[in-house]
Amino acid sequence: MLKDKVAVVTGGTRGIGYAIVKKYLENGAKVVLFGSKKETADKAVASLKAENNTWQVEGMYPDLTNAKEVETAIMDVKEKYGKLDILVNNAGISQSIPLYDYTPEDFSKVMDINVNAIFYAALPAAKIMKEEGGGCIINTSSMVSIIGQPGGVGYPTSKFAVNGLTISLARELGRDKIRVNAIAPGVTETDMVAALPKEVVEAISAQIPMGRAGTPDDVANAFLFLASDQASYVTGEILSVDGGARF
Ligand SMILES: NC(=O)c1ccc[n+]([C@@H]2O[C@H](COP(=O)([O-])OP(=O)(O)OC[C@H]3O[C@@H](n4cnc5c(N)ncnc54)[C@H](O)[C@@H]3O)[C@@H](O)[C@H]2O)c1
Repeated sequence: MLKDKVAVVTGGTRGIGYAIVKKYLENGAKVVLFGSKKETADKAVASLKAENNTWQVEGMYPDLTNAKEVETAIMDVKEKYGKLDILVNNAGISQSIPLYDYTPEDFSKVMDINVNAIFYAALPAAKIMKEEGGGCIINTSSMVSIIGQPGGVGYPTSKFAVNGLTISLARELGRDKIRVNAIAPGVTETDMVAALPKEVVEAISAQIPMGRAGTPDDVANAFLFLASDQASYVTGEILSVDGGARF
C-alpha cells in the first residue's frame, strides 16, 4: 500500500512507533525512524533488519525539542531519498504526577516533546511536500485528548493541542494536497502503559467494550490506512483506535 513512499516516523524505536515503522516497511515504504539516541535508534534498525534485510530503514536521532536539529534531519532525509511523502509525529512522553506535586518544568517538558516537536517537524516537511505536490502528516494523539485525565495535567493538555494542531494544519494545507490527521489510541500495551499505576490501567481496561487493551499493531493498522491512498480524501480527522472506549 505504500510502495516506494518515503516516511519519517518519530519515536520509532519502540512501542507504537516501532509497530508503525514495521507496518510501513511491510507495505513497501522506505522509512527513517527518529529515536532519542543513537543506541536505541541503531538497536531498532538492527532488529528490523534481522526480520527482513531487504527493508530500507535507517535511524536518526535529532533532538526533537530543537527546531533547527529537526529541520536539518528532515532536510537530510529529502536530500538522501529525493522526497518525503509521509511524516508521522509519534514520539511522546506521558506523566501521571498529581497537580499539587506538578512543576512548571514538568508541564514544559511534556509540551516540548508532545506539541512543539510536532510543529518543528511539520514545518519543513510541509514545505517539502508542497513542492512535491502533496503528502501526509499523521500525529499521535490519545484517548485523553477527548476525555482528559485525572493527573499529569500536561499530558492530556498536550494531546488536546495535538488535535488542534492537526485540524488547523489540515485546513491550512489542504489546498497544497497535504493531508493531516491524528490517531487517538486508547490503552495500548507499550512501555508507556507499563509505567502507569497498575490500578489505573486495570480500571480503564475494565471499561473497554472490546474487553482488552490495544496492541501496537492494532494502532499501526490505522496509521497504514491514513498514510495510504485509501485515505485520499480523509483530512482533519482524529481517528480513535481504542476498542470502543467511551468513558
Ligand atoms: N501506550 C498507550 O496507551 C498510548 C495511548 C495513547 C497515546 N499514546 C501515544 O503514543 C505515542 C507512542 O507511545 P508509546 O506508548 O509507544 O510509548 P513508548 O514510551 O513505548 O514510546 C515512546 C517513543 O517516543 C520516543 N521519545 C520520547 N521522548 C523522546 C525525545 N525527547 N526525543 C525523541 N524521541 C522521544 C521514545 O524514544 C519512544 O520511541 C506517544 O505519543 C503517546 O503519547 C500511547
